[in-house]
Amino acid sequence: MCGIIGYIGNSKAAPILIEGLKRLEYRGYDSAGISTIDKNNIIVEKDIGKINEIENKINFSGLDGNIGISHCRWATHGSVTKENAHPHLDCSGNISIVHNGIIENFSELKQKLIKNGHKFSSSTDTEVIAHLIEDNYNGDIEKATRNALKQIEGSYALGVICSKEPDKLIAARNESPLILGLGKDENFIASDVPAILKYTNKVIYLENNEMAVLTKNNYLIKDINGNKINKKIVEIDWDSELAEKSGYEHFMLKEIHEQPRAITETLNGRIENGNINIKEELNLSNEELQKISRIVIVACGTSWHAALVGEFMLEELAKIPVEIEYASEFRYRNPVINENTLVIAISQSGETADTLSAIREAKKRNTKVVSIVNVKGSSISRESDSVLYTYAGPEIGVASTKAFTAQLVVLYLFTLFMSGLKKSLDDEKIKELLEKLRKLPLQMETLLNDNKEIKRISDIYKDKHNALFLGRGVNFPIALEGALKLKEVSYIHAEGYPAAEMKHGPIALIDKNMPVVFIATKDIYTYKKVLGNIQEIKARDGIVIAIATEGDEEIKKIADYVIEIPKTLYILSSILAVIPLQLLAYYVATDRNLDPDKPRNLSKSVTVE
Ligand code: G6P
Repeated sequence: MCGIIGYIGNSKAAPILIEGLKRLEYRGYDSAGISTIDKNNIIVEKDIGKINEIENKINFSGLDGNIGISHCRWATHGSVTKENAHPHLDCSGNISIVHNGIIENFSELKQKLIKNGHKFSSSTDTEVIAHLIEDNYNGDIEKATRNALKQIEGSYALGVICSKEPDKLIAARNESPLILGLGKDENFIASDVPAILKYTNKVIYLENNEMAVLTKNNYLIKDINGNKINKKIVEIDWDSELAEKSGYEHFMLKEIHEQPRAITETLNGRIENGNINIKEELNLSNEELQKISRIVIVACGTSWHAALVGEFMLEELAKIPVEIEYASEFRYRNPVINENTLVIAISQSGETADTLSAIREAKKRNTKVVSIVNVKGSSISRESDSVLYTYAGPEIGVASTKAFTAQLVVLYLFTLFMSGLKKSLDDEKIKELLEKLRKLPLQMETLLNDNKEIKRISDIYKDKHNALFLGRGVNFPIALEGALKLKEVSYIHAEGYPAAEMKHGPIALIDKNMPVVFIATKDIYTYKKVLGNIQEIKARDGIVIAIATEGDEEIKKIADYVIEIPKTLYILSSILAVIPLQLLAYYVATDRNLDPDKPRNLSKSVTVE
């Protein structure tokens, strides 16, 4: 969805901008560029490719100047070309801008600007902003930007510099995320916190229709009409180490291995003497909680899979009816929700545009919204009635891993909390279920320390073109997630299905070339049936890879490969079972010489609808 970062201070801007951009590359990596002001001249360097590739051709960091902006692109308007890469300049070459978002009325603005004599050098929607600012420029870049923005319809996170005012960095936001980072004698703008975490943990989140003027030792925030606004400074408690690879080859692998820690952090302070301590965070009165008769969970991508697991947990234990909605669909229907419905929004980034719109839709209908979010201060966290944070730390790899298991843990805590409140479980039972949860981080460690078999399987099957993932009950969403992980990072076509449903279609695909991954942990519900489904695949010569409970000898007799996970409650087995699937996707991708941190065409944070 594009990442932007800007710097103003005493240091050389370029190395800071490029380093920050690498932390934002998960947002877009089809092209990148940088612009600085050196001796009252704007310099621009940009090209297509990932930043490392471009750096082999262009010495980005060599650019002089103490102020600059930079951008990594995920194309929306205009193909992936050097001309379409940001920054974009006005005709005079004095104004340079970077933009994340979509300018919806760019076509009519462009026609007008062309009529007025402006010359365009790209086919992006963004370039109109540079020319509009130029059109409005009368020696005051702040005013010119404000007047230009008044003519724009659409979403933007914008960084602007002007060679005639080299001591000012302008920022503006509407719908696309943008933060200010406040340092000592230096200030930053960025799409996301990891880009600036090395320099400061003091940030201000810009809201829609807000602008900021940054100098090296000051900042001023105004609304679109120029009225001054005072905003809260948020202190981010992420350790900057977490945004580094720390010896791992890829962020994805590091983040898979960080799961025990992410879970421990997420549980920290939330279980006290066998009680679940989330009432304060939930910020809902007993009366409001008691009247919840239905829950609707909205989310996208991996977070949507977490929602499906949450549905199983809540219905099974708290006995509350739950519906799961794709956030993008929810808002364009007429959802039947009311004050007795609770909407839960799940989002790692807290910035997914569809999920944000779904929340707004729910709030319009007087429904309380609790969000489960990983990024403190993000748009979704700000717009929800309350937030249950996952404390997974920054997730940089595009394919979500540690945020997913942390979301499942929060859903489990919430489920047990509601079960106590609704008296569907007694205190003793809740304590017992919490004890199993507490064991998870250690069990995860065990699982992560023994991944030879997964590596072996990936070496054998890395060249397959298709794969099927099957599971039932709480592990059906894990089948979906396993398939999603594989296709995201290895580009192998993979589908997830409820194991029994396979007979109604996918079974036609089974032959000796088709690997089928079963999540077949032991449970009292469907285990035997899943064994039957495995037999059906074997009878058609399919290759069966089973994720099974440790010590399961029966499954070893029929599956081709067995990956064991430690014994836990059936409902928690989903949190463990997903780990081998994450690793499998990772190893297949790296065996195929692909970069799992930056899968083609994907962006970590989808801030356009
Ligand atoms: C993108 C990412 C996925 C993520 C989804 C939802 O598609 O590539 O990994 O699951 O967005 O993101 P969210 O931040 O709302 O959880």
